[in-house]
Amino acid sequence: MIKLKSQREISLMRKAGEITAAARAYAGKLVTAGITTREIDKAVHDFIIAQGATPTFLGYSGYPASVCLSVNDELIHGIPGKRVLRDGDIVSVDVGATWHGYVGDCAATFTVGEVPAETRRLIEVTRQSFFEGIKYAREGYRISDIGHAVQQYVEENGFSVVREYVGHGVGAAMHEDPEVPNYGKPGRGPRLVRGMTLAVEPMVNMGTAAIRVLDDGWTVVTQDGKPACHYENTILITSGDPEILTVCGEE
Ligand code: MF3
Ligand code: CO
Repeated sequence: MIKLKSQREISLMRKAGEITAAARAYAGKLVTAGITTREIDKAVHDFIIAQGATPTFLGYSGYPASVCLSVNDELIHGIPGKRVLRDGDIVSVDVGATWHGYVGDCAATFTVGEVPAETRRLIEVTRQSFFEGIKYAREGYRISDIGHAVQQYVEENGFSVVREYVGHGVGAAMHEDPEVPNYGKPGRGPRLVRGMTLAVEPMVNMGTAAIRVLDDGWTVVTQDGKPACHYENTILITSGDPEILTVCGEE
């Protein structure tokens, strides 16, 4: 069941989104050579608390941190720890914050020092695929129109979209209906109507789409060991252009 949001709920989701986007930007600034992923997690955790919000991911299905930090061949759900970031690494930051019961969810991939041109292209194509997808996040289209556009853009640029993980509705719960795949035929799934709030999150591999989950039960890595990228925002379907809720002055 898709939950349409009232004006009151939308106001709360705007604030949640602003804090979440600020947390993503803050994490991105901390992504530098010599820091550990645990140090970034701790700083972002404290940042979210200082804003009066709570870190949505902490304890979610037993997840042990406030941020997912996925390095190089790690696609999503990397657990912060003692890993030290080095020149040439890429780091996908995925973060959620809850404000008065409503969730913001967003992600982006950041670079450490000098990164190969092809890897920079992967990051840019992943980000742009989100914007290609949300051209269809409008009344009159259907859910699968978003993912169809994401897949087409990613594949025409020579990269692969991951199938096993998808975007989702978001609101009082981090994961609500509907699922928002990053692939598929157009014209399928629920019709988009104003008041829907969705997390649209392309997950893109440089090589093949194949992934596996590490023994920690969380970290998703590419099977071929090549780099992977993630970009995500929480959006609101309106009577016109979609509104990106995970925005802040820091970007
Ligand atoms: N952005 C991710 C998602 O949409 C975050 C989940 S990580 C978890 O599923 F640890 F919170 F599960
Ligand atoms: Co999400």
